[in-house]
Amino acid sequence: MKITVIGTGYVGLVSGVCFAEFGFDVICVDNNASKILDLQKGNVPICEPGLDKLILKNAQAKRLAFTTNIEKSVEDADIIFIAVGTPSKSDGSADLSYVYQSIDEVAPFMNKDAVLVIKSTVPVGTTRSIRKCLLDKGVVVDVAFNPEFLREGVAIEDFMHPDRVILGVESDKAKRILSQVYRPLYVFNTPIMFTSLETAELSKYASNAFLAMKIAFINEIADLCESCDADVNEVATAMGLDKRIGDQFLQAGPGYGGSCFPKDTSALKDFADKLGVNLSLVNETIKSNNSRRIKMVEKILAACNNDVKGKNISVLGVTFKANTDDMRDSPSIHIINDLLQRGANIKIYDPSFSNQAMQIFSGIEFSNNAYDNCNEADVVIILTDWSEFRALSLRELNKRVKNPLLVDLRNIYSLTEVNASGFNYCSVGRIFKKLKFTEGTITS
Ligand code: UDX
Repeated sequence: MKITVIGTGYVGLVSGVCFAEFGFDVICVDNNASKILDLQKGNVPICEPGLDKLILKNAQAKRLAFTTNIEKSVEDADIIFIAVGTPSKSDGSADLSYVYQSIDEVAPFMNKDAVLVIKSTVPVGTTRSIRKCLLDKGVVVDVAFNPEFLREGVAIEDFMHPDRVILGVESDKAKRILSQVYRPLYVFNTPIMFTSLETAELSKYASNAFLAMKIAFINEIADLCESCDADVNEVATAMGLDKRIGDQFLQAGPGYGGSCFPKDTSALKDFADKLGVNLSLVNETIKSNNSRRIKMVEKILAACNNDVKGKNISVLGVTFKANTDDMRDSPSIHIINDLLQRGANIKIYDPSFSNQAMQIFSGIEFSNNAYDNCNEADVVIILTDWSEFRALSLRELNKRVKNPLLVDLRNIYSLTEVNASGFNYCSVGRIFKKLKFTEGTITS
């Protein structure tokens, strides 16, 4: 089986490499020549744990190649995956220009027996439109839609052990070939679901919108917890014990970011609006998440007696989530820019040493480690849930800071451990009562 993947972004590159790991011959194509050159040298352009080793292994096994040459890469391919970006347009709709551009480039060279699979997240009906567009060019080809459910930072795990594979197909041939492609997952009894093109397309958007809504929900419950002295982490645990709710995606924080949830919720809203269908819950999720960043600034200001002018602020973590260098739509961008406008002195430490972050926050000092970043700080703010922050010695941090104030927007620390550290502590959905220790007993 020869597979070609068009697009070497987060989805295309991980998918192509994992297909090669399945044992197929894979060619990954991109029009970015410098990115392809880097990949040919084994340099991985994205921060995805384990990807570099898999690329090296499969390239050495001659199952994986990278090229800019579309013609050579598709002429004898059995299956072609389109995995290019579908970013948001200014009106929130999905920009499909890269998808149609790659279709135009592939169409003249596809062999007639190949199956064309859209993996990019596209509005419902797009795959069928692509098939018609190809027919109009005289290219008769089987098309399918196969959404990805890869989380950045754990994308290889999510590809190799998915909860399910969704395949929108229109022909037995497409069904047969895609069954072959995902056969290696049969060993894990992974549910492989065949459905219509439209159902597969909508399932992707509905899944992401629901996960985004779940996060927005627990964030609003966190706000309520702060008003009634409940603990949102414990509420989330209590909820998650109900199998119908599930314990994932109930971690309160500064709101979701990344390249998918914001884009996909907006695209779904736009799609439904155009059909005259009111997705009020998706609309409210978008509004709730957008306003959360503003709320987080208010929380920080409140912790700093409503004045950060001239204050030394140590920010720990700026990427949209841990284990990635991706800054797309990260809550930190709004939060830090707002604090800068209010006259704060910001210093940043992020374990990814993200180039994107250094470009976005050019002119701001970046530290090499969390401790140095906290020297002389008036307040320490945690914006990303990197594991290494959980291992920090709060006592050591306390020696570095000018003022022992910690604003933890990811609830990384337990209230007990913070109490022993001497920090004044502010987090999300939990009220911190600085306890006085007298003669071995605790008095609130
Ligand atoms: C998401 C979907 O999970 C994935 O299935 C889809 O294919 C692509 O989009 P990703 O955006 O990479 O993946 O990361 P994810 O782990 O879903 O986190 C998204 C955002 O939600 C991050 O900003 C994260 O910090 C936030 N989040 C996640 C929470 O605030 N709380 C949670 O409990 C989980």
